[in-house]
Amino acid sequence: MQKLNSTNSDDSMVSVLELKNITKKYSIDGNEIIANDDISFSLKKRESIALVGPSGCGKTTLIRLIAGLEVPTSGVIEFEGKPITGPIRQIMMVFQSFAIFPWKTVQENVELALLDKPESERSSIATKFVDLVGLGGFEASYPRELSGGMKQRVGIARAICREPDILLLDEPFSALDALTANNLRNEVLRFYLSKKNKPDILILVTHNIEEAVYMANRVVVLSKRPGKVLGDIKIDLPFPRNKNDPKFASYVDQVTSLISS
Ligand SMILES: Nc1ncnc2c1ncn2[C@@H]1O[C@H](COP(=O)(O)OP(=O)(O)OP(=O)(O)O)[C@@H](O)[C@H]1O
Ligand SMILES: [Mg+2]
Repeated sequence: MQKLNSTNSDDSMVSVLELKNITKKYSIDGNEIIANDDISFSLKKRESIALVGPSGCGKTTLIRLIAGLEVPTSGVIEFEGKPITGPIRQIMMVFQSFAIFPWKTVQENVELALLDKPESERSSIATKFVDLVGLGGFEASYPRELSGGMKQRVGIARAICREPDILLLDEPFSALDALTANNLRNEVLRFYLSKKNKPDILILVTHNIEEAVYMANRVVVLSKRPGKVLGDIKIDLPFPRNKNDPKFASYVDQVTSLISS
């Protein structure tokens, strides 16, 4: 299999994110649960990976660790060579449940992500990103007035307005109807593939194997708990991908059989 397509600049050879022997254990009522078991992989600029695996195998835990929202029990995660010890500006996350404030407008929800910017700049940056995700005209709307797809657009605007190097997406389309999910998938992909935009790296958690093969250069398959890496499959197809291409179907089969192994 060929190397995945990426820019040919030197940067594309350097690992931006490295997970080194990550184990995460939880203790519930005295019982130990191993959510992630000795997980190692690294990511370079312009890579897009999908994390797939059975429910409960530790996908959300793993991206929360990358986001700095949890601390590994052992191992280290490095961003540009420095250990991640808490949330950082360069890594932002989009949640399945949208996680937006119902009592704030669309504009205010996005501005909340910009509190470290001068007050005079927040409004124009937020407006730009609200517009970019297709919500121009809805700045003053409240979440209750929005569809699921629109709410997720707010979640996406709030993450990308920070221009993160790495965008983490935890099943961002799974609460949406099929058509809305498809549109939003294509928009996120188009935004990511446009080299003038940050993020440089996408990490997508999904249950949907077709979605993984559609959006990622690499699909990392985790085993059922305790979640270990079962395989790291390079998807060597150009974007935008054609779901009717027999090679597409063969990658879907390959990932499916690894998950079921
Ligand atoms: N904060 C927590 N405290 C205790 N146990 C936890 C915590 N977070 C996750 N777990 C446990 O860790 C395991 C992995 O959970 P996680 O949510 O990461 O799985 P997942 O792969 O994202 O599942 P799903 O596909 O259903 O979203 C589960 O057994 C879960 O109960
Ligand atoms: Mg999860």
